[in-house]
Amino acid sequence: MKVHVDSEKCQGHNRCYALAPGMFKVDEYGYATERGDGTVTPENLEKAKLAVENCPERAIFLIEQAGDKAAS
Ligand code: F3S
Repeated sequence: MKVHVDSEKCQGHNRCYALAPGMFKVDEYGYATERGDGTVTPENLEKAKLAVENCPERAIFLIEQAGDKAAS
């Protein structure tokens, strides 16, 4: 599973960063991007979902990858 921020939609509400600072980073203008390649570990999945649900702009997406189901 990977998390991705759509930079076209992000308006800098920073809720994602407040909820999951290990998963997102914000630039000097407050816009967020995923950290690294956006990989979500099983331990971080709930936090990632929380961030998705709490973004007012619906700018955050979870992307399933091959092997995700087998791992869970
Ligand atoms: Fe942007 Fe949403 Fe986070 S608007 S800063 S992705 S809460």
